[in-house]
Amino acid sequence: MSRSRSQPSTPPACYAMVHPGLEPIAAEEIERDFGGEVKKTGNGIVVFRAPSLDERLLSLRTTEDVFLFAWGSDRLTHRAADLESIRRWTAREADWQSLLRIHHGLRPKPKGRTTYRLVTQMEGQHAYLRRDARKALAQGLANVVPESWRPAEENAAVEFWLTIHEETAVCGLRLSDRTMRHRDYKLEHRPASLRPTIAAAMVRLAEIRPRHVFLDPMCGAGTLLAERTIAGQRIRGGFAAAWGGDIEFSAVRAAAINLRRLGSVLLARWDATRLPLASESVDRIATNPPFGKQLSSPEAVGPLYRAMLREYDRVLRPDGVAVIVVSAAGELRSAARTVGWQQRRQVSIRVLGQPAVISVWRKAGK
Ligand SMILES: C[S@@+](CC[C@H](N)C(=O)[O-])C[C@H]1O[C@@H](n2cnc3c(N)ncnc32)[C@H](O)[C@@H]1O
Repeated sequence: MSRSRSQPSTPPACYAMVHPGLEPIAAEEIERDFGGEVKKTGNGIVVFRAPSLDERLLSLRTTEDVFLFAWGSDRLTHRAADLESIRRWTAREADWQSLLRIHHGLRPKPKGRTTYRLVTQMEGQHAYLRRDARKALAQGLANVVPESWRPAEENAAVEFWLTIHEETAVCGLRLSDRTMRHRDYKLEHRPASLRPTIAAAMVRLAEIRPRHVFLDPMCGAGTLLAERTIAGQRIRGGFAAAWGGDIEFSAVRAAAINLRRLGSVLLARWDATRLPLASESVDRIATNPPFGKQLSSPEAVGPLYRAMLREYDRVLRPDGVAVIVVSAAGELRSAARTVGWQQRRQVSIRVLGQPAVISVWRKAGK
């Protein structure tokens, strides 16, 4: 990212923070669904120009947060001299007044004294601490933040963010709030529940079409089913059935509560290795089986994956697609070989701190 100032006359630049590994999928969503022009991706950041700044920007599904871009650089030196650069770029390189006007248009300030917050994130080896970078940001904003504004750690009306990753830095105004990453349907939580943005990316990779029957055979709290339901609402031309189930009754109950306000999903308590579904009745499967760590055990994973893939192969239609996230990718690959599935795509991510792989499989056609 070269250092650059946002141009108020053209649609302003934005950036999104995404779960590391999901950058290409988020970039695809920004370009294809939102009509944005992606400028750069890397290290959990996607920089793009938005076609317009409206609520649609806040309804992206695979991004954790979106921001108005103030400045960015990929020339940090890791040395203490970076602090002066951060101060100077913040003070001089951004048109904060235009950015704040746009921000207030999208996120009207609540009544009363305006509150603000500075957020600094830092990764990598630097000769300064995160709090030094935050101080440099605060110094750069000295003439930007009116004296009447009050700092607040919770629910601030305006958030200035600085994110540093090795020699890269990006600074901007946060447009999204917590509901972008956490959603508002997740009332019930379960151990090992999937991050909604990862679930949204998996649903995207499944390429659902009108009238596709969708299945998550190990649904836990129902995150994949929720994201599929929301994605389905955006598709014109029909909305076929979605099935979900879990071996634990408490999971089925949690999924039912989370899905209640979203639309109809058929839920059942079942064993995913013996599904009560007709052969070749499902077009898309997206699922997150136990990793063998928090749930189940490492020895159990191989036999479970083989048994479940045999059953998924039975219920999938020819040419059907399965999107599966696991940590033990080798075990899944060898299970997929036994049913003759072809791998189409693979995305490496981390789930709850562990390396994991989302893989996309296609069952052979007739
Ligand atoms: C990692 S969790 C799924 C989390 C879910 N994607 C979510 O977002 O909440 C794995 C789920 O698989 C379920 N499970 C394990 N073995 C199963 C089996 N044989 N049949 C059906 N469900 C099973 C567990 O009860 C657990 O809810």
